[in-house]
Amino acid sequence: MDPQANLTSGVGLKGQASPAGSIYHALVAQAADLAAFIIPTAIENLSLVPADRHLTGAEIELVALPEREARLRRLLRPIADRFDYLIIDCPPSLGLLTLNALVAADAILITLHCEYFALEGLAELVSTLRRVRVSLNKDLDIEGVLLTMYDDRTNLGQQVARDIRDFFKEKVFRTVIPRNVRLGEAPSHGLPVILYDVKSRGAEAYLALAREVLARTAAQTSVPAPPEPAGS
Ligand SMILES: Nc1ncnc2c1ncn2[C@@H]1O[C@H](COP(=O)(O)OP(=O)(O)OP(=O)(O)O)[C@@H](O)[C@H]1O
Ligand SMILES: [Mg+2]
Repeated sequence: MDPQANLTSGVGLKGQASPAGSIYHALVAQAADLAAFIIPTAIENLSLVPADRHLTGAEIELVALPEREARLRRLLRPIADRFDYLIIDCPPSLGLLTLNALVAADAILITLHCEYFALEGLAELVSTLRRVRVSLNKDLDIEGVLLTMYDDRTNLGQQVARDIRDFFKEKVFRTVIPRNVRLGEAPSHGLPVILYDVKSRGAEAYLALAREVLARTAAQTSVPAPPEPAGS
């Protein structure tokens, strides 16, 4: 949902879309079947509905359209069962595109740089979440808060991390993403960091995050283990 389409280029698919188009075309035309917009990536089990520059205009075009905040939700509902996770990348601003994501989502994963300005944006984000819960998506949860760009050599980084943990308590992931050069380089090669340099500290941190997300989900649903098959 980000007009900058960084995620699309970050998985090596810059400028590519399905014959049906990008998420922009699906949103504005309220496509009947989002499946036609899904393209495969080089990563096993990861598919993408690409973003492109057209989305910049969508912020304005959506204003005049019916159900303008719920269009993404409508697109995702019919295909949701086909995937374990649907991840919606949001633009940095809180406009209609982000609002569509917040209305479509079960939960939000908040990433925060360990810098002073991250705290300034937080109050606005929390009040937006509150408003969305009241009016548009009462079940919207916080999946977790992820501290990124962490540099344990600076006092400021440590202080900001402490402040965020004081505020969000156990919602903050134990995993922290360090400032890491390989994370910065990977997108310029059109590769996710786990394909670019899986041994880097950055990749290891993101793998740890994935494990933590899965463990939390397992703890929440706590499905009992299936019984051992008879005779084994
Ligand atoms: N932990 C990190 N260490 C070093 N570089 C990083 C790290 N995280 C992200 N970067 C780099 O910073 C840039 C922005 O990262 P990213 O796209 O994740 O930010 P974003 O919050 O999605 O930005 P935007 O709000 O503009 O969409 C990229 O070039 C990325 O490679
Ligand atoms: Mg981004």
